[in-house]
Amino acid sequence: MCGIVGYSGPGNSVGPIIEGLSRLEYRGYDSAGICLKINNELQIIKKEGKLDNLKKLIEEKKPFSHTGIGHTRWATHGEVTTDNAHPHGNEVFAVVHNGIIENASTFKKQLIAEGFHFKSQTDTEVFLVLLTKFYKETQNTLQSISKTFSSLSGNSAFVIIEKSSDKLYCIKRSAPLVVGENKEKREAYVSSDPFALIGFAPRIYFPQDAVICESIVSDQDVNINFYELDLKPSKRFKFQSNAMSMDATTKGPYEHFMLKEIHEQGALINKLAAFYIKNEGRKILEGLKGFTTPEWHITACGTAWHAGIVIKNYFEQINRQRASVDIASEFRYKNPILNKGEISLFISQSGETADTLACQELCKEKGIPSYSIVNVEGSTLFRNSDKNFLIHAGVEIGVASTKAFTLQALTGYLMGRAMEGTLDQPELFSEIQLLSNRIDELCANADSLKEVAEKIYSKKGFIFTGRGKYFPIALEGALKLKEIAYVHAEGYAAGELKHGPIALIDENIVNIAIVGPELLEKTVSNVEEVKARRGKIVIVGPKNLEEIEHLADAYIALDFEGLPNLSPLYVNVALQFLAYHIAKLKGTDIDKPRNLAKSVTVE
Ligand code: G6P
Repeated sequence: MCGIVGYSGPGNSVGPIIEGLSRLEYRGYDSAGICLKINNELQIIKKEGKLDNLKKLIEEKKPFSHTGIGHTRWATHGEVTTDNAHPHGNEVFAVVHNGIIENASTFKKQLIAEGFHFKSQTDTEVFLVLLTKFYKETQNTLQSISKTFSSLSGNSAFVIIEKSSDKLYCIKRSAPLVVGENKEKREAYVSSDPFALIGFAPRIYFPQDAVICESIVSDQDVNINFYELDLKPSKRFKFQSNAMSMDATTKGPYEHFMLKEIHEQGALINKLAAFYIKNEGRKILEGLKGFTTPEWHITACGTAWHAGIVIKNYFEQINRQRASVDIASEFRYKNPILNKGEISLFISQSGETADTLACQELCKEKGIPSYSIVNVEGSTLFRNSDKNFLIHAGVEIGVASTKAFTLQALTGYLMGRAMEGTLDQPELFSEIQLLSNRIDELCANADSLKEVAEKIYSKKGFIFTGRGKYFPIALEGALKLKEIAYVHAEGYAAGELKHGPIALIDENIVNIAIVGPELLEKTVSNVEEVKARRGKIVIVGPKNLEEIEHLADAYIALDFEGLPNLSPLYVNVALQFLAYHIAKLKGTDIDKPRNLAKSVTVE
């Protein structure tokens, strides 16, 4: 969702801010803006719509400024308009903000009654106006930030610049924020995502909640000071060297990040297995040996929820432990039955999804330990978990999640094997290697999936079906397709088709049927039912099975041999390619599909 980048240093802040905002575009946004301190004035340039609109304005003006902040906004309070875009500024300060101020309307009324004026409908401007009011009373920026932040509630990150200095200030509550420095170049940075700072800031700091950071660039040095709200120095921050490589920021030889990320999966699977079975991750998993709980409460959103269903199946089948899976936005309001001894397990790529975080809070309040399968180390979910199982997927830029799903599900599988105490069985490592090889083979032969896409892309609707362990893959296949190709698609348990969706079937509807070696005859009968009603059939089934190939308009032949547990992840990659090629034929914005955000930080 919203993205923040700030810079202070001897160079022109415009370059790194715009580059940083471009890198954060993948998160989803609807307007963009920048505020630059030029000749002791705070100049704001902002525009609704894509970052390109802002870039055009900047190209015309060619501004130069040593200090600036930039923002990509995903509207929450107030429509998508240029006025509501960030930064918001006045004669003293300019502010960018991610998140929501919950008590903004109360303060806004009070401030209006006191004679203050507002130019936008945003909650952010309440922060700005209150900050300015306190500053006029105290003439002290740090004190004013502290007072303003303490007055306002809600999860937010704020970055502030002022007319009277070149300092960058920031503070946050349960929202991502990172401060960076480049000592050699005497540059200070701030962002909502370390990804924006790759190649700019080799040293980064993650402040904890309610810590004020003040970055000061002088002629000799760059210093970052951390303060508590009482303005005493703070040590509540984590230092890290920014080890992310520049490769993460480019598509390499691929046309889209999504395609790059699909191709990365084979190698990442092997890396994850080596980490958890043979290397440092081993001791993290070994802690689970013999572990039992009366119930796992798995909670997640979107693709991560589908990974949760795959993991539930693993825990139930391998460990015979009860596991429930809920969509986070449902779980938090259903007054869940949570008993002592049970464990909550949150799955999230970003670790910042608001509904998932709210479920974590709820479980913590009820005294249920919280475990996470998460990609972003240091994210809010990560920090608030009792145990973390990182999926080590690297940055995922494509809004439609691909590699994160595969590695989330694999991490869950390894957790199950660790509880069972079978991490050392050679068959485990070899099945994972085989999965990796099969995915690489799929990548090498992706043209055949393109041919399938060509046959069906213009059809009206798509019903993905699967049984048992392939049911969550049917759900995920349908989600991927609708996310990026903007076509109606739904996932169904194959046996459930006749209880409703079969009414939709005609020659304009495609049934993408996952026919695994298990329950094969039963699943094939479901395909026959669709065929009898003139539906188009694409079967994703075992290779060399001529007796069912003839049923299909297109047959995606996969080698299920040797993958008794991991075949769902393999089938899923085929569906990722199918969605990708259909979307490409439709000409959609594959990496940044309309209306979607990569990291959904609002409820
Ligand atoms: C958004 C993204 C999805 C993602 C979901 C959960 O809707 O577009 O791709 O699966 O959020 O995100 P998380 O970061 O918690 O996995």
